[in-house]
Amino acid sequence: MKGVVLAGGTGSRLYPLTKITNKHLLPIYDKPMIYYPIQTLVDAGIRDILLVTGGKTAGDFLRLLANGREFGLKHIHYTYQEGEGGIADALSLAEHFADGHKLCVILGDNIIGGSIRKAVDEFRKQPAGAKILLKEVPDANRFGVAELQGDRIVGIEEKPEHPKSNYAVTGVYMYDNTVFDKIRTLVPSGRGELEITDVNNAYIREGTMTFGFLEGWWTDAGTFDSLLRAANYVAEERRAARERQLAGAARR
Ligand code: G1P
Repeated sequence: MKGVVLAGGTGSRLYPLTKITNKHLLPIYDKPMIYYPIQTLVDAGIRDILLVTGGKTAGDFLRLLANGREFGLKHIHYTYQEGEGGIADALSLAEHFADGHKLCVILGDNIIGGSIRKAVDEFRKQPAGAKILLKEVPDANRFGVAELQGDRIVGIEEKPEHPKSNYAVTGVYMYDNTVFDKIRTLVPSGRGELEITDVNNAYIREGTMTFGFLEGWWTDAGTFDSLLRAANYVAEERRAARERQLAGAARR
């Protein structure tokens, strides 16, 4: 399976932090935001990765990440999204890279505490279709929200005023190669973008969408509050890791 990190957009909700740089280059505690989704893919065993970026500072990604040596990679692929077409438009740029393979797509502002490896391995075995990961949240109206009936997902609503569940659709999406045909059928939403939720609903209608639940903490980082929350989660994780290390050293 190949990996795609989507890191375009203007980051207008974080203005003026994003006035002179791309949202995904902002710091989350001790690393630039973009490090986290790349690490999530690498930890899931995905080594062939495309970064889709855009905007005025796209060249900074190349200077920062180069060939991905810090992640143990030999090479990172890059492509450029012109304009503000939305997440599904950004993903459409990955068709050539995908070259018939399944994809694990992650949004560049999704910061994940646990591992997605189990879900990725399950999707490797899934013959076709798509898989998404859900997370129970207190503020579902900020996200794509899953409507569940028993163990079936029957639909997703993008940022509904009255969410039908507390399960947010996280920014980790696994697709077979038909995703590109599905994107070609989309029309722009009210916010003028090709919505990833419309892609996911196409798989749900087809009956080929599976889902799992994301373990551990998760947050997006596209607003002031969620950017701060992401930094606090990571700071806490680093502190806990240091304590474990000290406790280990004391035992030796
Ligand atoms: C996007 C998706 C939404 C999803 C969220 C996860 O929202 O449209 O369905 O729940 O990412 O982070 P956006 O960040 O574009 O508001």
